[in-house]
Amino acid sequence: MKAPFPPRELAKVQCSLLTWYRHHRRALPWRASKDAYRVWIAEIMLQQTRIAAVLPYYERFLEKFPDVASLARGSQPEVLRLWSGLGYYSRARNLHAAAREIIDRSGGKFPRTLEAALALPGVGRYTAAAVLSIAYDIPLAVLDGNVARVLARVFAIRGDLRAPRLWRQLSDIANHLLAHSAPGDWNQTLMELGETICTPQNPGCAECPVARHCHARARNLAGKIPAPRRKPASVHTRIAAAVLRDTRGRTLLVRDPGAHDGVLFSRMWQFPAIEVSRQPRAELENHLRATLCLDGAPLSLEALPAARHGVTFRNVTLLPFLVRIPRLPKPPRSRSLPLDSLHRVPISSATRKIAAAAVASQTPH
Ligand code: ADE
Repeated sequence: MKAPFPPRELAKVQCSLLTWYRHHRRALPWRASKDAYRVWIAEIMLQQTRIAAVLPYYERFLEKFPDVASLARGSQPEVLRLWSGLGYYSRARNLHAAAREIIDRSGGKFPRTLEAALALPGVGRYTAAAVLSIAYDIPLAVLDGNVARVLARVFAIRGDLRAPRLWRQLSDIANHLLAHSAPGDWNQTLMELGETICTPQNPGCAECPVARHCHARARNLAGKIPAPRRKPASVHTRIAAAVLRDTRGRTLLVRDPGAHDGVLFSRMWQFPAIEVSRQPRAELENHLRATLCLDGAPLSLEALPAARHGVTFRNVTLLPFLVRIPRLPKPPRSRSLPLDSLHRVPISSATRKIAAAAVASQTPH
């Protein structure tokens, strides 16, 4: 690849960008120290998740699990409970498994080589490069959607940035630009630029520290790079869920191996639920009878307000039904608990929405 900047210009760009970062960086909690554990937790939480959403989870997680040893000692349900609502729960499962590996095989410290970091569950090229550069100053360049957009604009690279050929080109550019004197700060400089100035819409070119070197700006292309990606057509589904409620206000949660549960309920505790087509009430009632070992007594299903739930390209309508029942059944892989205490167990956002509809409707039995 032809060098995107000649050496003198590169040194200038690196210097002015690093100076900009050191003056303008946000005081984010994972920037308060170079502790590899704290950096790692942040990078996992930040995958596909906005900073504002991560902040409260990050603080709570570190209060409960301040270091890798405490995380390794924790139970998976505890870890999932702290993750509950943040989404993409395989991240939490992998984090927990990786903490145990770090204790068993890496002397309790996040590894220092790319190869060993990549061997940990849930750690890909981006996360490994981010943690190793930020915590240990190891010269590895990161490339994610934000950084790719910044680089594509600076060098006016057009097309689908995620196409393998372009991604490789961007990765070569990222490696070429990396400031070896401060790899962690450099990587965070590009992240920060992408998150605060070189944003997907309405980039703030007037405040951009690299505007003078930016080819997209010179050619008035900043708004056209990257080209909008074609989104997959969204799929609509309706899920009916039963909030059983006994006379003491307790409800039943199950671990349902149903087809939709991995996506929507993330293999966590959930209300009995089924994907429905035309007759949600009847379909749900049949499902309850088939799976919950209920006797033949008639069931009354009271419709609660529907809720919308979006998971990537899936558009889900949740149809909660309140089912008042004198005694809760005890099917396998189930538990009962007070309806207003669901925060004590790991549940997904969809389950939380269903519970909220039921709690809002609570009237004496
Ligand atoms: N996004 C991912 N990692 C980040 C970091 N360390 N700082 C800011 N934004 C990020």
